[in-house]
Amino acid sequence: MLPFTRPTLDDEEFAAIKEVLQSGWLATGPKVAAFEAALADYIGGDVQLRVFNSGTSALEAVLLAYGIGPGDEVIVPAMSFVASANIIVRCGATPKFVDVDLVSRNIDATKVAAAITPNTKAIIPVHFAGRAVDMDPIYQLAKQHNLLVLEDAAQAIGTQYQGRQIGSSGNPVCFSFHPNKNMTTIEGGALAINDPILLKKIDGIRFHGIEKDEQGDIDVSAWGGKMNMPDVGAALGLVQLKKLDGFNQKRRALAQRYLQQLPTHDALVLPTDVEGHSWHMFCILLDWKKIGLNRNQALELLKQQSIAVGTHYPAIHLFSLYRQYGYKSGDFPHAERIGEQTLTLPLFPGMKEGDVDRVCSAIVSLLNQV
Ligand SMILES: Cc1ncc(COP(=O)(O)O)c(C=O)c1O
Repeated sequence: MLPFTRPTLDDEEFAAIKEVLQSGWLATGPKVAAFEAALADYIGGDVQLRVFNSGTSALEAVLLAYGIGPGDEVIVPAMSFVASANIIVRCGATPKFVDVDLVSRNIDATKVAAAITPNTKAIIPVHFAGRAVDMDPIYQLAKQHNLLVLEDAAQAIGTQYQGRQIGSSGNPVCFSFHPNKNMTTIEGGALAINDPILLKKIDGIRFHGIEKDEQGDIDVSAWGGKMNMPDVGAALGLVQLKKLDGFNQKRRALAQRYLQQLPTHDALVLPTDVEGHSWHMFCILLDWKKIGLNRNQALELLKQQSIAVGTHYPAIHLFSLYRQYGYKSGDFPHAERIGEQTLTLPLFPGMKEGDVDRVCSAIVSLLNQV
């Protein structure tokens, strides 16, 4: 079975983990410090890096440190992984969804302005599938309305925007290292930021609120959670980070092969390539009505050919939790269409060109059902 994703690990990763296991220090320690330094180096710009036990924790820590809470509204795309919106609910704030563009799958900046109210405190753009959001118009709006911009770059480690690494701007940007991401620490995440005041609060939120003074004495003056990354994950991350650009080059080449081989067809919407795309996922849209199949039938036909695909993602506003905020079918047509029509084709560095060709033939045969 060809999976839609698989982490790329070899003896170097296994040895790095074994070394930590044998060292006697498994929790946050020297490997985390080294990984944070290596990530800061990789991202570039004038930023500080903090790693977390998940991308979700990193995102939550920023909203909490910023004081987002009840009565506040936070703008987020209606199509993303649900964590992008759950973190808003976690803080007691209200998610305000905005539709996404059908091709880039990213938040439609032209629709963000209309969603801003006097209660809006933040915008969370998501760099979907490794494609950078066009950030300039978002930052302009944020400046006009004095809003926090928290970039959800969970899917975008190694993505570049205008020739610079995502995360290097100094604004808060969070990454995920979940095993299906372009590099992994098993579970894990990171925050890149250049804001010493916010960072001090975030350090407390990350680890029990504990503050240490120069003598090493500790105090707790505000609540903190438990969001730290263990050294085992960081040791894995150090090895994966060295290989990340190579992984992403491979992803780009495979994505380009998909784009060359998949046909133009009125039942098919393909993603497009842009400079700096890290191709975390390759998601197509298939118009099931035109093809004369439903998605489950298509998944079954692909399974019979030993091809597993994903469905990233259902529209968030249609989940029961978010319907409670008054959202309903028809609110965000692109997000809903993506939710119904999307298929994530296999894409990971260990894939061969022949695997791409095989998947393309299978998609062509689905289209030929017409
Ligand atoms: C867009 C987006 N945001 C947030 C997350 C959460 O990251 P994690 O799984 O590391 O908590 C993910 C993970 O898939 C994601 O895709």
